[in-house]
Amino acid sequence: MEIDIIREVALRAIKEAGAILREGLERARTIEFKGDKNIVTDVDLRSEEAIAAIVRRELPHHSLVSEEGTRLQGDSGYRWLVDPLDGTTNYAHGYPCFCVSIGVEKDAELVYGAVYDPTLEELFTAERGEGAFLNGKRLRVSTVSRLSNSLLATGFPPDVATAVENNLDHFAQFLRRAQAVRRPGSAALDLSYVAAGRFDAFWELRLNAWDVAAGCLLVSEAGGRVSDLQGQPFRHSMPQIVASNGLIHEEMLRVIAKEI
Ligand code: IPD
Ligand code: CA
Ligand code: CA
Repeated sequence: MEIDIIREVALRAIKEAGAILREGLERARTIEFKGDKNIVTDVDLRSEEAIAAIVRRELPHHSLVSEEGTRLQGDSGYRWLVDPLDGTTNYAHGYPCFCVSIGVEKDAELVYGAVYDPTLEELFTAERGEGAFLNGKRLRVSTVSRLSNSLLATGFPPDVATAVENNLDHFAQFLRRAQAVRRPGSAALDLSYVAAGRFDAFWELRLNAWDVAAGCLLVSEAGGRVSDLQGQPFRHSMPQIVASNGLIHEEMLRVIAKEI
């Protein structure tokens, strides 16, 4: 079955990329600026090359889109959405909160997702209809049912200083209403943590498909809910996301809509 091959190739690729990240943390990193604060390191590029090389070799009919520009074009209907290093700013500072994220879609529907944190050696995986797992153990979202008891996570775009949609108003609202709000700096890990029940919800306004593809499949397969800011079903091509345990979702949407 194709999914068996995808799983095997994705796991090999993500482990190899994770090893590159882990090894790169020990030595000096080359940092280039893509924008004012948006950076890319030599490790982002080496991780991306490693993943693309494996997919190109093992699954030549699959397409691939990766954050730092690598594109593969295949005719199978399968497309890999890759963030070779999610949490680059953390990484560049040696702050160990980063991961590799790989999502695979078939005809625009997600079928497989994997997020790997090489520091803690935590591998989050999900397959459509088969559930979500951490190092092989089944995951379930949390059971917290009130926003006031919730631990939330969010993030901000690199151009937060100038962007109109800067998320600062939502951040202030949730900071007042939730038990606490964190801003870890890796959207793919944040979503994995919602799937694992460590965070009760995550929201962010300006993300890309490679940030969220694996993570949103993880959350839905762990029994959570994923929508846009209005509560419409989320598609991983959308920039705005609310991903929760389901129980606090409506309350979050009402805060975002300024109804409460
Ligand atoms: C970023 C991280 C961060 C989020 C940013 C993303 P990158 O991805 O996921 O948590 O707040 O919006 O751009 O640049 O580290 O791959
Ligand atoms: Ca990212
Ligand atoms: Ca990245």
